[in-house]
Amino acid sequence: MKDIYQRLYQAALGARKNAKAKYSNFKVGAALLTENGEIFTGANIESSSYGLTICAERVALFKALSEGDYEIKYLLVLCEAEDFCKPCGACRQIIADYAKNAEIILANLLGEYQIFKIDDLLPHSFKI
Ligand code: THU
Repeated sequence: MKDIYQRLYQAALGARKNAKAKYSNFKVGAALLTENGEIFTGANIESSSYGLTICAERVALFKALSEGDYEIKYLLVLCEAEDFCKPCGACRQIIADYAKNAEIILANLLGEYQIFKIDDLLPHSFKI
């Protein structure tokens, strides 16, 4: 595994431990690297009002964006999956909006992963 993937994988694994996932029991971790070399992490945070739940990758993205770090180079998402973790549609839209150049690494707990660009995951996305 490429060195930066390893670093992001370990960061996402650590963040996943902080997931608040008592309703689904499905923990997700995310980690991203920005152009200026900073790593931001996220975990999914569920609410008793289910629709308020926020996914791990959006937490990581919003943390980076709200700190003024706009250029996302790599975004890794990690969960327990047979093949690799698949972001929901809402997260794909946010990635298309704010991390369109990012290399997206979708990984599982076995250390398996696949690389995508957002145009693979959300072709013909909505833009204004
Ligand atoms: N979830 C994420 O955090 N990221 C994804 O890519 C897919 C789904 C979360 C939302 C919810 O807390 C749980 O996984 C089950 O849907």
